[in-house]
Amino acid sequence: MHGLFRSELSSVSKELPTIVVLASGNGSNFQVLAEKSISGELRANLKALIVDRPCGAVERAKKLGIEVEMLSKPWHEDLERVLDTLKPDLIVLAGFMKIIPERIVNKYFPRIVNIHPSLLPAFPGKDAIKQAFDYGVKVTGITIHFVDAGVDTGPIIFQKAIEIEEGWDLETLESKIHELEHESYWKVVSNLLYKAYKIEGRKVTWGV
Ligand code: GRF
Repeated sequence: MHGLFRSELSSVSKELPTIVVLASGNGSNFQVLAEKSISGELRANLKALIVDRPCGAVERAKKLGIEVEMLSKPWHEDLERVLDTLKPDLIVLAGFMKIIPERIVNKYFPRIVNIHPSLLPAFPGKDAIKQAFDYGVKVTGITIHFVDAGVDTGPIIFQKAIEIEEGWDLETLESKIHELEHESYWKVVSNLLYKAYKIEGRKVTWGV
């Protein structure tokens, strides 16, 4: 399958490609995406933050003047409605604590991406940083992947590793992981919006 890229996204208009971010928590990744889009380093229009609950991300969005969509129940129907209304070019999950229903995944694949704080397929699911730390791994990292119908199972777009140094506690590792997420996610989002890519089975490659 060929990815969507800039020339296909808005061949008629010269407008920036649009993204939405879905979050349920602190919202630090959302904030970086928002700041990079405001500064123009990420050439995208971040149309809205979509949340399923009151959370830190909402406060950050308010400060940045970004529209917030709070999903009402049943949340999956509301999410589909919001996405169909906003029609984003890319849907960016950043700590969204719900599994996207297969129906929405099928409708939007490969335009939903997620960031996960481990080197998948190791430590999927919740509390991945702690899972890796408690397991005693010497290397962990981050994964950015397309979202399919499973939990953290979609084709991998980007990974970066961190060596865990002796003496690091869980908090140290968490801050290193978040630092890596913040420097990487917006760049990968930008590449997805502006570069051609191919998805063949599980393999994602750049270029046509
Ligand atoms: C990040 O660690 C991300 O990898 C995971 O959820 C966390 C969200 O952090 N999916 P924040 O809300 O962006 O600060």
